[in-house]
Order: sequence, then C-alpha cells, then structure tokens
Amino acid sequence: MSIKVAPSILSADYVNLQRDVELVEKAGAEYVHIDVMDGMFVPSISYGAAWVKALKPVTNMVLDVHLMVVNPERYINEFADAGSDIIGVHYEATPHIHRALQMIKAKGVKAEVVINPGTAVELIKPVLHMVDQVLIMTVNPGFGGQKFLPESIDKIKQLAAIKAEMGLDFDIEIDGGVNGDTVKAAYDAGATVAVAGSYVYDKVDPAAKIAAMKELTK
Ligand code: DX5
Ligand code: ZN
Repeated sequence: MSIKVAPSILSADYVNLQRDVELVEKAGAEYVHIDVMDGMFVPSISYGAAWVKALKPVTNMVLDVHLMVVNPERYINEFADAGSDIIGVHYEATPHIHRALQMIKAKGVKAEVVINPGTAVELIKPVLHMVDQVLIMTVNPGFGGQKFLPESIDKIKQLAAIKAEMGLDFDIEIDGGVNGDTVKAAYDAGATVAVAGSYVYDKVDPAAKIAAMKELTK
C-alpha cells in the first residue's frame, strides 16, 4: 500500500484555505495536517482549535493535529471538542506524556506521541501500547521548508523494529522535508504516513505532488 499523504496547511494559502484543502482531498490525500505552534515550544505562533473547528465541516480527510505546545494537556479537550481525529503531543513538551495520551484517548480521539530529532526512540517505549500513531520529526519543528535530516531513516527503522517486536500496529508518520527525493527511503524504512507542506503547496500543482508521493511508494 502506498504511503498515506498528509498535506500540511502551514504552507497553504490561508485566505483560500477551503480551496487548498479541497484540492488535496480530491487528489487523494488521506489526512490534513494541522500544525499548532505556541511561540514557546517553537518560536512561531500559528493557529488554534478554531481552525480545526472551521475545517471539520468542509472535509472528510482525517484531521491530524500536531501540537507544538508546552504542556499540551492544557489544550487537549479543546482540540478534541473542535473535531480533531488524531492529536499528537510531543514527548519533550510535558513531564506527563503518559497522562497527556490518556487524556486524548479519554476523549475518544486517536493518540499520537511525537519525538524531535534529538530524542531517542527508546524513550517512548513505555507509551507505545497506548498510541495509534507515532510521529518522528524529520526536521527540528517550528518551520516549513527545512531539509530532511538523513539520520531520521535509522530512527524510523528502529521504531519499525520495536513495533514488530512488540506486536503493535500504530502508524509511523514523518514530518519535515518530505518530498519526491526523501519519501521513498522513509517509506522503505517503515513510515506509513507522510506529512508534506512546502512540497505540496509551494509551487504549482499540489495534485501532481501527491500523485508522485503515491507513485514512489507503491
Ligand atoms: C514543522 C511542521 C511541519 C511543516 C512541514 O514544524 O511540523 O508539519 O509544515 O513543512 P515541510 O513539509 O515544508 O518541511
Ligand atoms: Zn507538523
């Protein structure tokens, strides 16, 4: 099965957001990735739960919410009530990652743990039984348009091996610098969902970019 594609609206045209979301849905994207930045965990401020609520009625894609927020427990219920299908919380953003994941699950939302490039895969072993998806950041979070870190490939392989060893079946998502040159190696390593912002939205023809990612991972 081809990799599932999750265009990040961080690189979309915000005044034509509905158009940009419909366009990728028609092109076969399964998820829409929503990057929430608080200006503390990462330098930028992006958008909040109101955007999730606004997008909910205009798309059938999975609303994949990536919280780049310090102490995300403060916002989990709000994002769940807004209509998130998956909520991702960073291992690095809270001393209580287990509790944060419990809170997401208690709302009936799919739970995701996210790790930064500097965080070892082993550290999330104790929570892997709780999650529906793991996001391995393939750049340092905070900005679109950065270069894919090649050392991520080993981390994806490690996680895929742990997943098989533990008999679990969560999705493995990658985020940052994903494009036609980087998606195949990540897919071969075990990634099942690919976030792509600037590759899909920055230049012409987002539909062709999605088709290319699907074709490269057949
Ligand atoms: C980065 C965000 C990404 C971002 C990816 O902190 O988490 O989702 O939109 O952008 P590209 O695909 O341009 O690297
Ligand atoms: Zn993201």
